[in-house]
Amino acid sequence: MIKTMLFIFLFISAFSFTLNAATYKGQKIYMDVCKDCHGGGQELAASKNIRTWERLMDKKGDKLIQIHLDSKRAQSSWDYFQDRKFTKDSKHLEDFLTEYARDSGNVPACN
Ligand code: HEC
Repeated sequence: MIKTMLFIFLFISAFSFTLNAATYKGQKIYMDVCKDCHGGGQELAASKNIRTWERLMDKKGDKLIQIHLDSKRAQSSWDYFQDRKFTKDSKHLEDFLTEYARDSGNVPACN
């Protein structure tokens, strides 16, 4: 019994750690890449709901890439969005953006 509970506890801890690590990674990518043009990441995340982010980030960020490639103002981001690096980053970004989406229940920290 104790063993089972310990196992469940460890499982939950490991799971929430992984979840936070992914969100953190996405936030860091956001800070490195998107912040200069878009400002605070949690604010941007909170401007859309989870479903919208999932749609934008579907197929490794296909829609998000298109939005940027279609905009002349986003020109300096074109290299990044067309690079394999974005393909790798897109999952982490999605984790971060949905974590703080408008209907996620997570309120952005005031700082
Ligand atoms: C070089 C500047 C630049 C960078 C870097 C950049 N963006 Fe953008 N982004 C833009 C511009 C400009 C638009 C607006 C296109 C338009 O409205 O015509 C845009 C549009 C968007 C939109 C759609 C906005 C809406 O209301 O529908 C989202 C979401 C977005 N960007 C997220 C990101 C994310 C996430 C990153 C980092 C991976 C990023 N952007 C990096 C310039 C940038």
